[in-house]
Amino acid sequence: MERLQKVMAQAGVASRRASEKLITQGRVTVNGETIRELGTKVAAKDKIEVDGVPIHHENHVYYLLNKPRGVISSASDEKGRRTVVDIFKDDEIEERIYPVGRLDYDTTGILLMTNDGDVANKLMHPKFEVNKTYIAKVKGLISNEELKQLRLGVVVDGHKTKPAKTRLKETDRTKKTSIVQLTIHEGHYHQVKKMFEVVGHPVVKLHRESYGFLNCQGVQPGEYRELRPEEVKRLKEL
Ligand code: URA
Repeated sequence: MERLQKVMAQAGVASRRASEKLITQGRVTVNGETIRELGTKVAAKDKIEVDGVPIHHENHVYYLLNKPRGVISSASDEKGRRTVVDIFKDDEIEERIYPVGRLDYDTTGILLMTNDGDVANKLMHPKFEVNKTYIAKVKGLISNEELKQLRLGVVVDGHKTKPAKTRLKETDRTKKTSIVQLTIHEGHYHQVKKMFEVVGHPVVKLHRESYGFLNCQGVQPGEYRELRPEEVKRLKEL
């Protein structure tokens, strides 16, 4: 149960303060009954109307998806390709969730999905500097000097990338490929691919293994799990 004015604000009716005013003015009904008390609490199933117009309100839900290859990180796709939201629709999850940020069509790994706009916007804001760790399989044998360049920052689309962390995990001398762990907190379009491109090692495979304190351990590509209450709490504290 949540306070009526909070639910109204979260549903985008008005600010919390302005919603309080609507309530005291007698313009809000819950299940057909006019409510003027500010302490009133409502549940997800309650029907709320403002001036006779129903508002959409939902419980906030938070999922951790291990995004498989070949799906789009958005709610819909103009070319009709399968999206991360379709994965949840298949399971008849009714909340209107969307991804927090994006992963490329061919990238796999952790992607948070929620209907909590507040949390999603905060996490995506560069100011919050959420660390994201990627495992990139790249062409060629990457050198220590090139790894250092990635750590210090390279120029991508006219901007120098912020300091990053790198760890060389593996090199394959016969196939001439390297596997590198890269941690960044920025999230520009195709950032990881572009960073490796700049140092001369195009990405052939990309996986995001962690997002802040969360990772997709135990969750197979294409599968998801709900975040535990303590994880949601930590996410809000980030
Ligand atoms: N950087 C990329 O280039 N692609 C992704 O999917 C995520 C980060």
